[in-house]
Amino acid sequence: MQLSWPGKDDALALAHSPARGVLVDEHGNPVPAGEGLAALGLAAAPIPCHVFVEGDNLEALKLLKPALAGRVRMIYIDPPYNTGQGFVFADRQSDAAWLSMMYPRLVLARELLHDEGAIFISIDDHEVHYLRVIMDEIFGRECFRNCIIVGRGTKSVQAQFASVAALASGHEYVLMYARDARARFPNLRVPRETRRPGTWNSHWRGTDRPTMRYPLFGITPERGQWRWSQERSLAAAANYERMLKELGVSAEEVTQEQIDAWYLKERRRGRRVDLLRLSAAGKPEHYVPPSDTRLASTLWTDLKAKGSRELARLLGPGIFDNPKSVALIRRMLEWITRPEAGDIVLDFFAGSCTTAQAVLEQNAADGGNRRCIVVQRAEPTPADSPARRAGYDTIAAIGRARIARVQERLGNREPWRICRVVQAAG
Ligand SMILES: C[S@@+](CC[C@H](N)C(=O)[O-])C[C@H]1O[C@@H](n2cnc3c(N)ncnc32)[C@H](O)[C@@H]1O
Repeated sequence: MQLSWPGKDDALALAHSPARGVLVDEHGNPVPAGEGLAALGLAAAPIPCHVFVEGDNLEALKLLKPALAGRVRMIYIDPPYNTGQGFVFADRQSDAAWLSMMYPRLVLARELLHDEGAIFISIDDHEVHYLRVIMDEIFGRECFRNCIIVGRGTKSVQAQFASVAALASGHEYVLMYARDARARFPNLRVPRETRRPGTWNSHWRGTDRPTMRYPLFGITPERGQWRWSQERSLAAAANYERMLKELGVSAEEVTQEQIDAWYLKERRRGRRVDLLRLSAAGKPEHYVPPSDTRLASTLWTDLKAKGSRELARLLGPGIFDNPKSVALIRRMLEWITRPEAGDIVLDFFAGSCTTAQAVLEQNAADGGNRRCIVVQRAEPTPADSPARRAGYDTIAAIGRARIARVQERLGNREPWRICRVVQAAG
């Protein structure tokens, strides 16, 4: 069974036609794709490197293919939903044009995926069914894994009307396909209501990262590393002091029940606090919250699809419409990618680069070395928009600024290779 639309044959041909452009680095020098991952700066290295490609994603996927075919562990994309609503980026095409735009990109996406990899695609009611049919065609129906439901806020404007054409949509979807029908994934655990008591773990570990050796409670390790960045550790130690103060007890008096109750209260307020203290034996130890997970289903309504507030905190309000939430993408990363295997994560509709933030944060949280590749064209921001007023002429510039801010915040100095797709000479 196949879906037909005017222009489908051309779309198919486009997936297999050679690239018309070339990939160049920041200095305009060609990146020799034939030399594979090393040319992209992605060869296995102790410090993960990442790649930002500015340009049309169809060309970019073709140009990345020699280096990345069969090597990407996880693809997450959030293509335009074709809703016709006013976005910073152009979001309305005819259905046939939307399908023709998506089709060759999905064909190439599949070619880049590792045999044990998976692709996640955010989408809403407008195109989810068409997308499902073309994904079945491209990936094979047996590779369909899930249609995940994610909550999204509804606008209250409808409240003023006694009658409406349709209900406000309070959810959207993430379609998940495996590259290979035989692929198996770890069971996914997500937060639950009833929890096991919290515990404390040593904050030191043997992996050797000199940049993670800094003074903590007057102790600087000579080898190994602290688990978290200095900023995070210091904030966690301050949280512990704040907790004692709020509980009105001393470090000697406080009980695990009191700590757990305080932590859970914070969490109910939407705050996930880290705690760090000196153990009775004089060693830094961090808090492992009460065991609080349950097996996940496809209902991810505990997450919000949208992440406007977290982007506003980094770059200011209104810079980009409807960025995804970092938590949504982190859930996928935590599930599908392995922290320390150098897994490659690709997002070729990068927008404000939420995926890059999710990879950097997930690596910071679990000491991982995932590598991220994002592709975003230099789509101009509308004249007189908050983005333009803030100095971002293109969406790609927004994404790059966000990555820089996130790295700054995490104290992360991992290199980003910046490439551009340009028309081949002649
Ligand atoms: C829905 S947004 C992605 C938002 C992103 N997930 C985030 O959280 O910020 C889709 C993005 O894809 C970009 N885009 C659309 N067509 C593209 C193409 N052919 N090549 C590269 N980028 C494209 C748009 O400029 C837009 O920024």
